[in-house]
Amino acid sequence: MRTVIEQLPGSKIREVANAGLGRSDVLAFWFGESDEPTPAFVRDAAVESLRQGETFYSHNLGLPELRAAIARYATALHREIPVERIAVTSSGVNGLMIAMQALAESGDEVVVVVPVWPNLTAQPTILGAGVTRFPLHVQGGAWHLDLQALLATVTLRTRVLLVNSPNNPTGWTLTRGEQQAILEHCRRTRTWIVADEVYERVWFDRGAAETGGRVASSRGESGRLVAPSFLDIAEPEDRLVVAHSFSKSFLMTGWRLGWLVVPGQMTESIGKLIEFNTSCAPVFVQRGAIAALAQAEAFIPGLVERMRGCRDTLLPRLAGLPGVQVALPPGGMYAFFRVEGEDDSLAFAKRLVVEAGLGLAPGAAFGDESEGWLRWCFASSDPSRLVLGVQRLAEALRL
Ligand SMILES: Cc1ncc(COP(=O)(O)O)c(C=O)c1O
Repeated sequence: MRTVIEQLPGSKIREVANAGLGRSDVLAFWFGESDEPTPAFVRDAAVESLRQGETFYSHNLGLPELRAAIARYATALHREIPVERIAVTSSGVNGLMIAMQALAESGDEVVVVVPVWPNLTAQPTILGAGVTRFPLHVQGGAWHLDLQALLATVTLRTRVLLVNSPNNPTGWTLTRGEQQAILEHCRRTRTWIVADEVYERVWFDRGAAETGGRVASSRGESGRLVAPSFLDIAEPEDRLVVAHSFSKSFLMTGWRLGWLVVPGQMTESIGKLIEFNTSCAPVFVQRGAIAALAQAEAFIPGLVERMRGCRDTLLPRLAGLPGVQVALPPGGMYAFFRVEGEDDSLAFAKRLVVEAGLGLAPGAAFGDESEGWLRWCFASSDPSRLVLGVQRLAEALRL
């Protein structure tokens, strides 16, 4: 076994979840998904596909109809994205791994903005690349990027800059100005940008000037709410790969489907990598995705409003607890907070499960930079669970 594989850290979130094994009374907010199932119209399309006997291998890059639907969807949100730039992958995480396989090899430097979902730092590590962690810092209770320091870190030797925005776990989101500066800098250093934008639609900051968020107008023409994306500003030939997922905006975590937007000249190679990884995504899953995209603008705004309701239920209550530090996340589905005096997040999260029946993810799972913090996924069909969760936290803290 390769040493690097033996040394991969186990999931600290699972460790906390295991502390609550066999208990049905735990309010679980540790994983990054809603408790709401996939909408029926998506499930029906997949069932119909199975009924029709669509049980065979298919194209490496995805069904032509799905690729075309994704291209239309992405074009409506951003700039013109031709179908030739779209590759359907078996989940967002699979797309990100394939992107990394295409770009980074042993000895390459990959700079990753952290804290971040741990899979993003594990993937280049598995491939033998060296990961340079570039930490966000806390300012006034919220996470901020020191742009100049990041640009100084990304040099001619940097093969890939990996950035997840809106960010899991912090909710931190790149501004348009920051994206522009990063793109221009990476053009000079010939560094690839891998942008994980799976939370782009889980974005609450309607027209917020401060964060660069916008209501898509001109090309989108539809007033769609979407976080700033590198796809809004990049040229088709830029060294940019953007990773997306059906998991978050369509409540399809268990389906394992995502897509990449890549420069056109890269698509064929990505197809080969898909062949050697999974060969293709299941057809019935792709049929579900076609149905999802067809209803995207009927479905997503309502989902985001429900998530906004969850956020606005949880955040003021959390912030109101003495000793709790938390900032309102403009995007994503997490409250990232810390409690004064609780510096060991894994021990604290385990204690909350065992003593209070409250399941949260420890900040340490996302890197040393966020030790002492906790992540609370607020996506729920029943906001009263969040109210109860805060009560349990308050009781555990003897408030
Ligand atoms: C930042 C980020 N990127 C990518 C993913 C991958 O999503 P999936 O593999 O479910 O498509 C997740 C899931 O939690 C995530 O948080």
